Amino acid sequence: MPTFRTSDQTEIFYRDLGERQGTPLLLIHGFPLDGRLWDRVAAPLAAHGRVIIPDMRSYGRSARPAGPHTMERGAQDAIELLDHLGITKAFVGGHSMGGYTALAMAENHPARLAGLALLHSHPYADDEAGRKGRYELAATIRTLDRKPWNAAMLTKLTEPGYNDPAGKRILGDMIAEAQPGAIADSAVGMALRPDRTAVWRAFNGPTLFVYGAHDMTVSEARGEAIRRLRDMHPLNRLVTDAHDWWVRLPGGHAGMIESPAAFTRALLQWWKA
Ligand code: MLT
Repeated sequence: MPTFRTSDQTEIFYRDLGERQGTPLLLIHGFPLDGRLWDRVAAPLAAHGRVIIPDMRSYGRSARPAGPHTMERGAQDAIELLDHLGITKAFVGGHSMGGYTALAMAENHPARLAGLALLHSHPYADDEAGRKGRYELAATIRTLDRKPWNAAMLTKLTEPGYNDPAGKRILGDMIAEAQPGAIADSAVGMALRPDRTAVWRAFNGPTLFVYGAHDMTVSEARGEAIRRLRDMHPLNRLVTDAHDWWVRLPGGHAGMIESPAAFTRALLQWWKA
């Protein structure tokens, strides 16, 4: 079981898949999930090159140090994982909270990213109400009846009426196994994150933006606004040296589970352009 220790001695579990050819792809899962999120796309992607899939700190098989789990700390962990593997540059795709982490990587270590993908994610900070909700969750999750909370999380991840039992099981297991401390620490970490629209707008490389037509976290309107940030900014036209891709999938907030074939195609056109 491959693991490594970060600079603050946290043991991180990761999978290292595929052939060692071309620039690797690093996939960062969202909240409150772990590397199993990518189970339906890992093998099809790894048929095309090297794919690195960590369990971020406090999730899955990784160690559980006390938080807050800031996006910057997650970004540092991801960079240290690349260092550990001797990878100088990777395409980095982040799902939802993983996208917030990928943006922190792009801000703090731009030279390490060959491409940036926001997968059902966005570059905005929380508004006041959102931040308040995060702190409330952090304060109550340890004593909360988890069953309804878990069910609500599952509903939020998929499109209304999603009814694939195997897909629901993958997501449901990850949610059920997420520890209250991890949920609290990530909630505070997300509340603390700054707006990174400028990072997204100016990223000097190919970007991919994937969202779902029935995504309750990244709405259609928000997707359009994020597209415009990248497409219309004059400075962006000058600094971007490759194409951007925009993919609207039919489902909700978890295309890699809901429509893995279309999701894989979207990643491949960006990663293997
Ligand atoms: C996620 O899926 O990672 C979270 O919904 C992100 C968030 O709460 O902003």
